[in-house]
Amino acid sequence: MNVLLINGSPHKEGCTYTALSEVAAQLEKRGVQSEILWIGNGPVRGCIDCKSCWGKGACVFNDDCVNQCIQKIIAADGLVVGSPVYFGGIAGGLKCVLDRVFYDAKRLFSYKPAAAVVSCRRGGAGNTFDALNKYFTISSMPVVSSQYWNGVHGDRPEEVRADKEGMQTLRLVADNMAWLLQCRQAAGLEPFEREVRVKTNFYKPEL
Ligand SMILES: Cc1cc2nc3c(=O)[nH]c(=O)nc-3n(C[C@H](O)[C@H](O)[C@H](O)COP(=O)(O)O)c2cc1C
Repeated sequence: MNVLLINGSPHKEGCTYTALSEVAAQLEKRGVQSEILWIGNGPVRGCIDCKSCWGKGACVFNDDCVNQCIQKIIAADGLVVGSPVYFGGIAGGLKCVLDRVFYDAKRLFSYKPAAAVVSCRRGGAGNTFDALNKYFTISSMPVVSSQYWNGVHGDRPEEVRADKEGMQTLRLVADNMAWLLQCRQAAGLEPFEREVRVKTNFYKPEL
């Protein structure tokens, strides 16, 4: 079993990385392998809604980490996405990545347990946490919870490490992720067959 942890900060080893490292260490204790994938700090396009990805599970743009993220999520058993809070929301680079990763490929991520982790200096963690969870709940990904909303406070890694409650919350989300993955493996259950998706765009169809 393996879990992919996406570090959506422009800092490779900043606060978000410190938070994700705590999750990774606890997963390892529970016998689950993991990998932290940094999205980098180079330019990332937003989604241009060209719909080229539809049915392909790949973005038409190949000059950043988006297609790598899609392939790695498909290969993983579980997913954790970490974001610093920027103006009360998801950091811009990560938002661009996630919109393009999930637009079509979300159908390939169904039933993979997922968790959001946020890192902020002071405020906006709740909004950011909710916004990240939207990607999972539109994708049939079971959301893994903890004893609080998964977040840490700090502007530097040493401040994050001093956030004892935040770090404990992250260890528990790792435990719950490992538990869910191991339950699923032990039960050997396959997902139910799905209905073809209905999509109506809220217009009134001609009857
Ligand atoms: C553009 C920008 C906007 C930010 N907005 C917020 C904010 O709304 N609330 C907050 O608490 N911290 C805010 N911060 C601080 C970061 O969220 C915080 O330092 C975070 O822990 C950094 O994580 P990192 O080291 O992984 O990049 C902002 C930082 C930047 C660069």
